[in-house]
Amino acid sequence: MLILSVESSCDETAVALVRDGRQVLCDCISSQVDLHRIYGGVVPEIASRKHIEAIYGLAEQALAKAEISRNEIDAIAVTYAPGLIGALLVGVNFAKAAALALDKPLIPVHHIRGHIAANYIAYPDLKPPFLCLVVSGGHTMIIDVKDYTDMEILGATRDDAAGECFDKVARVLGMPYPGGAALDKAAKSGDENRYSMPNPKLSGNPLDMSFSGLKTAAVNLIHNTHQKGEEVEVNDLCASFSKAVSRMLIPRTMAALEQTGYQTLAVAGGVAANSRIRADLMRECEKRNVRLCLPPLSLCGDNAAMIGAQGYYEYLSGNVADQTLNAYATKSFEGESL
Ligand code: KG4
Ligand code: ZN
Repeated sequence: MLILSVESSCDETAVALVRDGRQVLCDCISSQVDLHRIYGGVVPEIASRKHIEAIYGLAEQALAKAEISRNEIDAIAVTYAPGLIGALLVGVNFAKAAALALDKPLIPVHHIRGHIAANYIAYPDLKPPFLCLVVSGGHTMIIDVKDYTDMEILGATRDDAAGECFDKVARVLGMPYPGGAALDKAAKSGDENRYSMPNPKLSGNPLDMSFSGLKTAAVNLIHNTHQKGEEVEVNDLCASFSKAVSRMLIPRTMAALEQTGYQTLAVAGGVAANSRIRADLMRECEKRNVRLCLPPLSLCGDNAAMIGAQGYYEYLSGNVADQTLNAYATKSFEGESL
């Protein structure tokens, strides 16, 4: 089954062609990140406008690159939630129009389910059930992937997402948006023990996480140091902060592995590109003899191939939409279809 998939939930317009959920024929991405950088973050109105400008040409480009004609497409999959509503609507309307014009099924895909499915592309033999750690700019959660379309959140952040905190601290340090990757690079040559960072204990669900205190501690430390007329050791702060984020994520993920008894851990989302988190995951999984699936960096960030992968399994489970499909800024994805 050949799926044309569309992703436009944030600042990347993407169109891919994916066969049977696993084989990527092409994955075309048009990033707007340079445009938003001057504002220090994504400007929703600009994002929507740029998606409109890019999407049709990108779809044409995808077909040309893969040497596929329109009548070979079996279905259209699209991210319909969560994300910036205006941005999502561009993709959803494009996909609805394409499905109508080609008379093919329209498959709604939840963005987080898509991130998880990036692992099916990177690891063709991977099948549920497994545990997945999702760490992106907007979400941080530990998910029991019981089946391709049946998932349960075992733990999640109670406040900010890990990526959001990386970006905020990077911004205060004067790094360009989105600062996660720059902060990661600086951390590599820093002393992780130079600055002490909080390690908050949460009551209730032991798999829940919290990052806002950590973010505030890092931001306050930077401001207080500047107020004293001193300079922060940027690399050391980045290393100390990355260590603290990892300390919040990894023990809970390992506890979830123990709780579920799974021997496979998949990782998803843009923050999965973080070298400290990757190294810690590798070490801890090796200790426990757990199979670790860490997709390549190109599949960690937003892309349309992951939407095509998940779209295939949504289709197989009967999750098909009609022309009334809407986009949603927030939407739960556990267990349900639409
Ligand atoms: O999954 P994604 O591409 O978009 C969302 O759905 O949110 O994730 C983007 C996030 C941004 O916050 C970005 O700064 C972060 O992933 N990121 C990183 C790294 N590379 C990207 N954070 C830490 N270290 C990195 N190497
Ligand atoms: Zn994403």
